[in-house]
Amino acid sequence: MKNDEPIQQAAEIIKRGGIVAFPTETVYGLGADAFNPLAVARIFEVKRRPYFDPLIVHVASPADVKKLVKGIPSNAIKLIKSFWPGPLTVVLLKGEDFPDIVTAGLPTVAIRMPSHPMALSLIKESNCPIAAPSANPFGYLSPTTADHVREQLDDQVDLILDGGPCPIGVESTIISFLEERPRLLRPGGVSLEEIESIIGKVEISPIENDIPSAPGMLPKHYAPRTPIVLDWDKKNLDLLEDKKIGFLAFQEPKRYLKFHSIEVLSKQGDIREAAANLFAAIRRLDAMDLDLILAEPISEIGLGRAIMDRLRRASTKEEINL
Ligand code: TXA
Ligand code: MG
Repeated sequence: MKNDEPIQQAAEIIKRGGIVAFPTETVYGLGADAFNPLAVARIFEVKRRPYFDPLIVHVASPADVKKLVKGIPSNAIKLIKSFWPGPLTVVLLKGEDFPDIVTAGLPTVAIRMPSHPMALSLIKESNCPIAAPSANPFGYLSPTTADHVREQLDDQVDLILDGGPCPIGVESTIISFLEERPRLLRPGGVSLEEIESIIGKVEISPIENDIPSAPGMLPKHYAPRTPIVLDWDKKNLDLLEDKKIGFLAFQEPKRYLKFHSIEVLSKQGDIREAAANLFAAIRRLDAMDLDLILAEPISEIGLGRAIMDRLRRASTKEEINL
């Protein structure tokens, strides 16, 4: 029973209109009662998130979705059956009395049922759907440990539930069901291949496509302070001899080049392990006062698509000729 105490306490805070950081299988979220507009407003303030960027609503059971939306298309039902609880978010037409602040005034709402036991208990104990973005200041990397949240938001949130490192490490996959064909708005913890194996071809929103229905897909998102470069050629590394450079490697490099610091996402090149380590590795490099981080591109298969998406959004758009 003792172990449930922090969850009980967190649920009391949510019920009273407070905000709580909590672990999910993807990243840590910063949650409030989705039906309490003032509590939700505090999330936007703490994150310095623009009000045009809607939040994901977290539920504890697929049955909870019905009360929040106008209807659930059959393809959405298939995906929910296949991937919930888990890292999949569905965007559906929202129900009549759903607070506008959560959805940024859009006619739609994004919903997911996380699989992390602490997240599920928190939602159940709070007895309400929980609106939660990732628990990071707007535009910065998502937190995958409670320490990441403490470092950036500690005194601004009412409680941080510590559930250890997030096992998946990249955010949920977001699929919208507003058009005839489902659309992938953000690649994430469930791969495109897995989704298409259940419902067939989906449309894909390219990264540059800053469509108003998904403002959080801003190209320059997840950015650390240090410039990350994804598009580089090792022939040109000599040009950077006087610079402090970090290397974000996907797997153990065959030959170590002269870097100030190296982070290996997965020694064996395991894509799941790499995703789980991604944000923490970038954070560590970002804390080293480097001039530049070079990242090793990986193939966009399975979780590789979500990893490359986050790296592209984190990477610098300035011309650095490498
Ligand atoms: O894994 C996750 O999804 C994590 C954990 C905490 O659940 N949450 C997360 O939330 O990544 P956030 O706020 O960092 O990203 C949510 C994304 C934003 O890009 C937002 O624009 C999009 O979901 N979104 C939310 N509601 C939407 C809607 N109605 N239509 C389109 N996009 C929406
Ligand atoms: Mg986020």
